[in-house]
Amino acid sequence: MKSILITGGAGFIGSEVVRQFVVNHPDYKIVNLDALTYAGNLENLKPVENAANYNFEKADITDAAAINAVFEKHGITDVIHLAAESHVDRSITDPLAFVHTNVIGTVTLLEAAKKYWKEDYNKHLFYHISTDEVYGTLGAEGFFTEETSYDPHSPYSASKASSDHFVRAYYDTYGIQVVVSNCSNNYGPYHFPEKLIPLSINNIINHKPLPVYGDGKYTRDWLYVIDHASAIDLIFHKGKVGDTYNIGGFNEWQNIDLVKLLCKQMDEKLGREAGDSEKLITFVKDRPGHDKRYAIDATKLNKELGWYPSVTFEEGLSATIDWYLSNTEWLNNVTSGNYAKYYEQQYNH
Ligand code: NAD
Ligand code: DAU
Repeated sequence: MKSILITGGAGFIGSEVVRQFVVNHPDYKIVNLDALTYAGNLENLKPVENAANYNFEKADITDAAAINAVFEKHGITDVIHLAAESHVDRSITDPLAFVHTNVIGTVTLLEAAKKYWKEDYNKHLFYHISTDEVYGTLGAEGFFTEETSYDPHSPYSASKASSDHFVRAYYDTYGIQVVVSNCSNNYGPYHFPEKLIPLSINNIINHKPLPVYGDGKYTRDWLYVIDHASAIDLIFHKGKVGDTYNIGGFNEWQNIDLVKLLCKQMDEKLGREAGDSEKLITFVKDRPGHDKRYAIDATKLNKELGWYPSVTFEEGLSATIDWYLSNTEWLNNVTSGNYAKYYEQQYNH
């Protein structure tokens, strides 16, 4: 029986992956390992917490003894590694935290895999979840393909690039079976409101200013988190060992247009006058080293594995807003306490 360690399973994407795997693969033992940092939240696992195949271990991926104990206790056969410090703005104020978790943490997990799977590396898979930000920035034209050279600019993307290199180094050096996927920006339910979309939804609800960095013409390529998780499932089962897959839905938006679309959908849903929320848009100081444009070419994943997103952006965004409007307790819980301090530091200083 497979015993799959999913790291970062209490976070935004990780919890979606855990929820899908627990339900869709009742024959697998799912072990969610998470340190429960500010971004980790066990409320995200409520829908599956009582499932027979679900297990939770609170541990830090940089703690080798704790990771070894989990491998031993659960007889881990495969790893899907999502645990990370994930927010670019936080990486600008505290880069070392990103080196620690994203680099040291990834190598600590690889070391455990090397130790516990040494009888036969071919029976096991280490699947590393990464980001399109490792490729750097695009001009007005073109896409990131799997062959694009790495050119990270933020401490976050530099730490993710480093972790990707370590994963591939363990394949080349020790023969550990690995696969890597690099995905574009995700959005959807359970997204922590430090990122553009959930932050804007929360601020619109509360009639607070909507901070748009610089001129707002930065471009991101958005994918519904449920579609990212379905791609992860497919790559885990059908991906070619040693390969990289880019995940994205060919869905580029300039930040300003995206925030305006959010305002429009939310005014309709909240019964506010058209144009009300747009008045909250406030251009603020730019993010240092801000990458201009990301755009993923997902042709390999489309052609080789037959994966396509299941929803349009308008549908996904509408479903996301509906989720936040009907989960006010979740939103209130994550925006109380330390969140207020973070917000003050990031936006009011
Ligand atoms: P998130 O910040 O919402 O969740 C990260 C999770 O990791 C949290 O539950 C946190 O508690 C846990 N964690 C952090 N440090 C840990 C440690 N030292 N030990 C154990 N657990 C720890 O992040 P997310 O947005 O869900 O991203 C998940 C993964 O996907 C990351 O690797 C990220 O780089 C990657 N990714 C994210 C996006 C995106 O748009 N959010 C896009 C592409 C790739
Ligand atoms: O591309 C994948 C990456 O997407 C992931 O690897 C990261 O983990 C994830 O956080 C995300 O990074 P971004 O920096 O693109 O996401 P964020 O939501 O922080 O910002 C999206 C865009 O919106 C970016 O151009 C910065 C801008 N922005 C962001 C915030 C928080 C604003 O204009 N105002 C804001 O308040």
